[in-house]
Amino acid sequence: MQQTLQTRVLKKTRLSERVVGLTLGLQNGDAFPVWEPGAHIELELAVSQTEPLYRQYSLCGQQANTREWQIAVLKEEAGRGGSAYIHEVLQEGDALAVSIPKNHFPFAANTKCFFVAGGIGITPIVPMVQAAAAAGLDWHLLYLARNAADFIFLQELQEVDGARITTHASNQDGLFDLQGALQALDAQTVVYSCGPQPLLAALENYQQEQADIGWQLVLERFSVETDPAMLQGKGFTVTLQKSGKSIAVAEDETILAALKREGIRVKCSCQNGTCGTCETVVISGLPEHRDFVLSPEERQLNETMMICVSRALSAELVLDL
Ligand code: FES
Repeated sequence: MQQTLQTRVLKKTRLSERVVGLTLGLQNGDAFPVWEPGAHIELELAVSQTEPLYRQYSLCGQQANTREWQIAVLKEEAGRGGSAYIHEVLQEGDALAVSIPKNHFPFAANTKCFFVAGGIGITPIVPMVQAAAAAGLDWHLLYLARNAADFIFLQELQEVDGARITTHASNQDGLFDLQGALQALDAQTVVYSCGPQPLLAALENYQQEQADIGWQLVLERFSVETDPAMLQGKGFTVTLQKSGKSIAVAEDETILAALKREGIRVKCSCQNGTCGTCETVVISGLPEHRDFVLSPEERQLNETMMICVSRALSAELVLDL
């Protein structure tokens, strides 16, 4: 976590059976830094005595409220304990260290916006909807959930403009016809989507089929199914600039795994290239980017890389570690 802010949990509320909302304020009472729709913060969770867990959550409150930040946390039953800690241990009044906002899902306020949110993927979309409405843009929100009880922030969104919102809960409405819903897209439309991997994959496939129409797609992923083969490749050497230590990364291990093998602790979270926690500055060498965080422009610059999944095209990488 590059720059840490010391916050306190001002409010903890239940948003649905599986989601709690946290309202955070700075401990010193100052105003928070500004943030843009799509931004997330990283929470440092004292889950164990030895090593904190880092977890990322989208800011989903009002941008104009500089004294309070809001996040919503889904309890991941198969997770590694971060969301369970927030649900079961963290209480109002507790201290919580968080990062300054980062944004890998920027909203460009395009004239025509089509938002597609799946489940908890609504969180980065809420401020985008508010920004689109405030700017007088032509927008529509498609909000999908498995169960009607899983919808959160629905009342706030409907107060923005309920006529521009379509909801679909598959437990009561059946299978959703995504292609049918996207048929009216044109070249001026940008689709912003956050949700489970099958939803994002369906959008990507449909966009490719409709390449002649030319609508754009901007995605925020919170998980991917990683094929172990995708983490493998040619072996190479990583040199750590600060210690001068060189470590061989084998064909079947990641840089992160090689560092851990050598007893070097590096901050990480998702370990599948989606969260950005392990982003590391590249001093020299050519990375082979395999993450879902960096934009095409950032990949070309080769200034940073996600060491949990990305590898090297050169024989050696020198990293700022
Ligand atoms: S740990 Fe999440 S991108 Fe590497």
